[in-house]
Amino acid sequence: MKCKLYRMRSLKRISGLISILTLLVVSGCVPAAKNAAPDTPIPLFLNPASPVAAQQARLYWIIFIMAAVVFVIVEGLLLYNVFHHAKKPQDQETPPQQYRQYVVEAVYTGVPILLVILIFILMMGTIKAIAAPAPKASDLKVHVIGHRWWWEFDYPDLNVKTANELHIPVNTAVRMDLDSFDVIHSFYVPQLSGKIDVIPGVTNHLWLSGNTIGQFHGQCSEFCGVNHANMRFTVIVESQADFDAWVANQQMPPAQPQNDLQQTGHDIIVNGMCSACHDLGEDGPGNATAPDLTHLMSRQRFAGDIFDLNEDNLRRWLEDTQAMKPGNDMDHKFSEDQIKAVLAYLITLK
Ligand code: CUA
Repeated sequence: MKCKLYRMRSLKRISGLISILTLLVVSGCVPAAKNAAPDTPIPLFLNPASPVAAQQARLYWIIFIMAAVVFVIVEGLLLYNVFHHAKKPQDQETPPQQYRQYVVEAVYTGVPILLVILIFILMMGTIKAIAAPAPKASDLKVHVIGHRWWWEFDYPDLNVKTANELHIPVNTAVRMDLDSFDVIHSFYVPQLSGKIDVIPGVTNHLWLSGNTIGQFHGQCSEFCGVNHANMRFTVIVESQADFDAWVANQQMPPAQPQNDLQQTGHDIIVNGMCSACHDLGEDGPGNATAPDLTHLMSRQRFAGDIFDLNEDNLRRWLEDTQAMKPGNDMDHKFSEDQIKAVLAYLITLK
């Protein structure tokens, strides 16, 4: 009877363990966010698209396999003993107790120490492998500024300024200086780069390079307020020719208003309430605290890379930004006429 009870308890424990493991495995496989661009795989460093992420993935798999082997051996021995040496009805005496098993103790102390030393060596090798390469003239410089809750990307050598969408040529080292406008953020593009804090008053540095053409999700990964989860960005890795074409377009002045309605919208943006925070090309590189509007419609999404950039969403945004993204800095009401005019001009800013 007692024996049955022991077995029942062991089985209960094992099934509990299996449920927890299943949960862990499944929770690691949640699909990409619903706003994810359609052609991107799950944004994990395990789908690397850069030399840095490839090194991180390699280290991860080596350690994972080592851990899996240890897990199977330890749990195997545990299960074997639980079932094979379970107390049987005819067992009346306590089994002989053993002391000073020096070989066994040396093995289960020594093997973990050796494994930790091995992981340390592998990790040092990875840190060396992902260190920034020596600077070259062809490197691209980008100034990254974290804002609540969007990302500003300035290209000082190209006189280009954009938001939430970082364009880089494939196989080119990108050197970034990172600053924060307000609170601590963290810059992370799992498939391309390491992760680095973006801190007010401190300029941090990070390099990255993409070796696969495509779009890759970035995400602020330091809690920075109510919309932290909606502080995203996209890195677009493209051919040198596509990048050059993008730069050429970004360097153009903003579109000229073509009719009275657009002219009214233009004036509200440049001289009215919008100009307190937003820049439009002709203002030059000012100290804008909100995304540059010069080529707004060349971007795919807005407000921290979360809403598709189209007329409908922009209208909703102008009508009530706080309903779309609570807590953001844009908090005033436009009249219906103002919305019409601003919208008419905004959608021409390709
Ligand atoms: Cu910025 Cu979280």
